[in-house]
Amino acid sequence: MSNSFLPTPTRLTYQTSETVIVNHPNLKNKLALPSLATVFFALAFYFALQLAPRPLSEYFLLAPQNWPVALQLTALGLSLSVAFIVVRVVGELVFFLFRKRKGYEAPSLLRDIFSLVAYAAGITIILKSFFPAISFGALLSGSALLGIILGLALQDTLGNLFAGVSLHADKPFQVGDVITVGKWVGTVESITWRAVKLRTFQNHVVMVSNSQVSKESIEVCPRGNANARLVSFGASYTESPVRVTHVVREALREVDNVLRYMTPIVRVRNLGESSIEYEVKYWLDDYARYNDTDALVRQRIWYAFSRAGMHFPYPMLTLNIERRAANGKPPIDGLGIVERLSTVDIFAPLTGEELKLLARSVSKHVFAPGETIIRAGDEGASMFVVHEGRVEVKVVQKGEMRTLGLLHDGDFFGEMALFTGEPRTAHVIAAEETTVLEIGYEAMKHLFDTNPDLVESLGQTIAERRAGLRVNAAVVPNQENGSAGLLASIKRFFKIK
Ligand code: CMP
Repeated sequence: MSNSFLPTPTRLTYQTSETVIVNHPNLKNKLALPSLATVFFALAFYFALQLAPRPLSEYFLLAPQNWPVALQLTALGLSLSVAFIVVRVVGELVFFLFRKRKGYEAPSLLRDIFSLVAYAAGITIILKSFFPAISFGALLSGSALLGIILGLALQDTLGNLFAGVSLHADKPFQVGDVITVGKWVGTVESITWRAVKLRTFQNHVVMVSNSQVSKESIEVCPRGNANARLVSFGASYTESPVRVTHVVREALREVDNVLRYMTPIVRVRNLGESSIEYEVKYWLDDYARYNDTDALVRQRIWYAFSRAGMHFPYPMLTLNIERRAANGKPPIDGLGIVERLSTVDIFAPLTGEELKLLARSVSKHVFAPGETIIRAGDEGASMFVVHEGRVEVKVVQKGEMRTLGLLHDGDFFGEMALFTGEPRTAHVIAAEETTVLEIGYEAMKHLFDTNPDLVESLGQTIAERRAGLRVNAAVVPNQENGSAGLLASIKRFFKIK
């Protein structure tokens, strides 16, 4: 037997790709420290100037290396802090334009490299203007040994840096995509010069180093792409694959996060020992929520199977003896149903025997919260009684769903289409897990033949509900004028004299 219907693990909460936060300190914070340093060095420069033997104008004619040391150091500090401010402001401007053009935040690696190059250039220019004797070329070649030592020490770091650069050049994935790398699966939160930050579906943060990412094969489920999932389940050999396919497709029609415009594909995967093994392929809107969506898909398949009277097979060794009624449906718990039908106000005139007879002809269905029981505009040849649970009656008004009423245990619905032959006037949706009793045309006709008064009380309910529809719905059902016309149409439809 397929294990796909084993209890799903504890519900996990995780941050979805919609809520990925890319944290960059704002410009105000970035400028606070250099601004403070600028003020400090400006004051120090001012005081050094006061103490200097010559006036300021004379110093401007001299090269900085000829200035007094105090003046040199404070001017150097001032220039460096101003350079910091300039680099940060320019950086912010460049990445603001980048965001405007590309529509997404520049990767932090790009920001870091930009800042590194800009700072190095700024510092070199300033040092060169203060100390022209310094030869950066000689400094670099002279420090070859130091370079080797540093290179060895920073081997891993540099490896990550270069791997990060190639990741940015290749762009195999972006922030918000769901990726599988090695044993980790999660949503990409950021790509830095050292590592890729993933948020797993257990809401843990994993840093996978860039060099590891570049060595591993990566599975990418891009954000905004129609990514598919496979969910497997088993069905009994007594159910035809065509029927199973139909029931499962219908069950997935309105599942949250399942793409509506891609019809799910149901395939027979294997003719197993005790069941036909199937898989359903469906497409997701937000792939980061696939755990929850898989669970919901399995849940809906269970409910749809239950309503269709289909069974998940047990292993062959389990002797599962089940009594079935002549019509092939599972036997109905007669007493509970008779009791329920006796609480329905329109059935009040029925005798105990008539209620029992009616109970035998109803079928019981269970619906998941949010599932549509009746769709407005559909044909309908049966009515329903709420056995347990609650349903909402809704109509579309000016493009928006509007609730007309909430029906509870013992209330009935779907009588309008059944008694008039017109299309369904409203959507009826399960507000919680709801069991309904379905009563067909034949059963009602039999009741009408023996209880002509029933037509009157039903006609009255239909007239009241039509009044509600007229006030609230944009579309009002066809109707013959007045309750006399309605009664005549019901009698005609049921061929009652
Ligand atoms: P039917 O038209 O067959 O399918 C939709 C059902 O919604 C309809 O029958 C009624 O049973 C129910 N319905 C329609 N309007 C109302 C209303 N105003 N209040 C409660 N139920 C309603």
